[in-house]
Amino acid sequence: MPVIVIVGAQWGDEGKGKIVDVLTEKADMVARYQGGHNAGHTVVINNKKFVLHLIPSGILRKNTVCIIGNGVVVEPKALIGEITDLKKRGIKVSHNLLISTNAHLIMPYHIVLDTASEKTKGKKCIGTTGRGIGPTYVDKMARSGIRVGDLLSPEAFQEKLRTNLRHVNFLMKNLYKAPAFNAKKIFEEYMGYARTLRKYIADTDIIVNAAITEKKNLILEGAQGTLLDIDHGTYPFVTSSNSIAGGACTGLGIGPTKITGVIGIVKAYTTRVGSGPFPTELHDAIGKRMREKGGEFGATTGRPRRCGWLDTVILKHSTAVNGLSGVVITKLDILDGLGTIKICTSYRYKGRIYKDMPKDLTILENCTPVYEEFEGWKESTEGITEFRKLPRPAQTYIRKIEEIIGVRVVIVSTGQKRDELIMLREQF
Ligand code: GDP
Ligand code: IMO
Ligand code: MG
Repeated sequence: MPVIVIVGAQWGDEGKGKIVDVLTEKADMVARYQGGHNAGHTVVINNKKFVLHLIPSGILRKNTVCIIGNGVVVEPKALIGEITDLKKRGIKVSHNLLISTNAHLIMPYHIVLDTASEKTKGKKCIGTTGRGIGPTYVDKMARSGIRVGDLLSPEAFQEKLRTNLRHVNFLMKNLYKAPAFNAKKIFEEYMGYARTLRKYIADTDIIVNAAITEKKNLILEGAQGTLLDIDHGTYPFVTSSNSIAGGACTGLGIGPTKITGVIGIVKAYTTRVGSGPFPTELHDAIGKRMREKGGEFGATTGRPRRCGWLDTVILKHSTAVNGLSGVVITKLDILDGLGTIKICTSYRYKGRIYKDMPKDLTILENCTPVYEEFEGWKESTEGITEFRKLPRPAQTYIRKIEEIIGVRVVIVSTGQKRDELIMLREQF
């Protein structure tokens, strides 16, 4: 039975949420393995829009077990808000959501530290979502983090909090000139969250491994994207976790031998939110058109997304570091009506051609993309469900992407809704 990782192949917002929701029809379990409420995964069902931040996009199907894995960082207030909102909209959550006892908690000081560190960086800031993600993973790696399970041991929680605040309040006073945090206030606030969340807390690694042993269908849902991965992205303009497929093993506690497929979600063009290199970025009318037609505004922060042509140099990198076994092309319909469509196949920098993604940010920031040009199509592809009904140039575009990156396209998405897609392969 399949255990499939769904991973963003670009800089996030590729449409992972929609595809996870679609594939969940046949899944027993959906598990998030990293990131936090910096993610915004949009699912549209019967014209109703749901944006999921921490809860797996499988929650919208009744009988799917949803796991927030140990690799995720959890802001309890945001999580409770998300649970409440879903319940208000008629989605049942209580019976099928589980949160790893080992997931780290985002504390109020992490959020302040995130914003303060961005301010200190000035023009060189990362453009984070300001959700406290980076500082929470810093504490995790420094072995001073507070975990979801600590919510159930008030004394241990209080002691860890006090220890952390000694350090944090020193920084607040001496470096950031900001007000100190009060241990008692935070403790009481978090014990309130503990009362609401305790029924969801579990040893999720055991539950996930049992589901695999029972030959259940699992989807492991990545957040962010490959180029935002802490090791394999455009460091330091990245998020603080391993968003690539390998992160699913550490972020859930399963072995690599259990994963049966890795599906990369590829937007038919490229977008990025926040700072950092983006070789194919367009500052012209076409970029603006992609942003407006594609509704390219952050699902979490509302920030306009930077837009540009498809970049197969980064996609080849994604294919390798994730071991992609298939790709899904999303938002093909957004390219409808363009006279010419371009695909970047290499970069040129100081007279040299780069076919593989350079690690040096100076090259990535200053290179000139080398494009192959394709005929566009006038017809609408919105809602098309059969490949042969796509305009011929759109078919050529899909086949060209396959050829360049050497991975089969398994689904083409042609609209926001569940049924707006072309299923090319049922087995990944
Ligand atoms: P995620 O973070 O990867 O889940 O992606 P987001 O939800 O942040 O952004 C993707 C946006 O594109 C959402 O608004 C989706 O509803 C929308 N979307 C997904 N697939 C398609 C598609 O094939 N066509 C169109 N027009 N919109 C899509
Ligand atoms: P989904 O899951 C796009 C970006 C931020 C910033 C960088 C670091 O919806 O695809 P962070 O707050 O994580 O420390 O910010 O990462 N970023 C995303 N960009 N989609 C996301 O999630 C993102 N999550 C973080 O804009 O550049
Ligand atoms: Mg998103």
